[in-house]
Amino acid sequence: MTTHRIGMLTGGGDAPGLNAVIRAVVKYGVGQKGWEAVGSEHSFNGFLDAPRRLIPLTLDTCRGLLHRGGTVLGTTNRGDPFAFPDGAGGTVDRSAELAAAVRAEGLEGLVVIGGDGTQRIAARLMHDHGIPVIGVPKTIDNDLGASDYTFGFWSTVDVATDALDRLHTTAESHDRVMLLEVMGRDAGWIALYAGLAGGADCIAIPELPYDVGRFVDKIRQRKQRGREFTVVVVAEGAFPEGGAPTKHGAARQLADLLESGIDLETRVTVLGHIQRGGSPVPFDRVLATRFGVKAVELIEEGRWGELVCLDRNEVTSVPLLGAAGPPRLVDPRHPLIRTAAAVGIEFGASVR
Ligand code: F6P
Repeated sequence: MTTHRIGMLTGGGDAPGLNAVIRAVVKYGVGQKGWEAVGSEHSFNGFLDAPRRLIPLTLDTCRGLLHRGGTVLGTTNRGDPFAFPDGAGGTVDRSAELAAAVRAEGLEGLVVIGGDGTQRIAARLMHDHGIPVIGVPKTIDNDLGASDYTFGFWSTVDVATDALDRLHTTAESHDRVMLLEVMGRDAGWIALYAGLAGGADCIAIPELPYDVGRFVDKIRQRKQRGREFTVVVVAEGAFPEGGAPTKHGAARQLADLLESGIDLETRVTVLGHIQRGGSPVPFDRVLATRFGVKAVELIEEGRWGELVCLDRNEVTSVPLLGAAGPPRLVDPRHPLIRTAAAVGIEFGASVR
């Protein structure tokens, strides 16, 4: 049996399920196959700090991780070794230093768990510096084209759905229009799924710039039918036709636009990072575990340079280089949009 010594890190925004991937790699690779693993703290930075911040990953240090949110390795969006902050407002390329540190630690390669930005760095490390890498994708936005689902997404939808259930009862009690802003700067998947699961009346997503008049009509029609409240889900990147996303918040912008057209009070809830924290739901725990096991299998087969993904419920992989292409957006002709329209959800745009 070949033994391996590998490094592991988590990069970019956290997502429920990161720890479950770490645990699976350690249980399978270290526990069953006798490999050695170390974790780099705060993405690639653990290799660049002096002294290096590397944690031995053993069955002992990785106990109790399956249900734990966040990442025990820590993470950051600010640690691109190819454009590392130089402390004076500029950047410096520290990628060669990073590659040297990986080699000095006797590591054969890295398991890099992260979103598209982190995977681009990983691919470059392999291409420019010959550091073998396996990518494990992570995004709560579920907008990675190569994978049907990424862990963290369903946990986020779960939190957003719960928020909608709660907003429903208070909306109904006060005859109000409740707007819930969820994450999704470019892709409206969280808004779409949570809106469907939480029985929203209106959904605004970045892929369908909205005509506020259509939302006003929907709210008025509901009122005429005795439904004097409305629940609206707004993806943070949604914006009106001919307009643009605003830094004041997409839900706030829509509420302001609605107010002149309706005689109901509006209230805005921005779910923010609550939707990214906490325990992963069972689907995400299972998917993260499957991804971690697949990463070990790929290493064992010597198939470095691959990105793990889910394709029609099969865990497989695609070449890392080029895998982090443009985000997978909601196609306005997606069947779920039709399903939502069929049950009366208004998108503020024509979707038929
Ligand atoms: O890409 C994941 C994501 O959660 C987006 O949906 C959101 O816009 C962004 O990260 C928030 O990032 P940050 O934690 O840096 O504010």
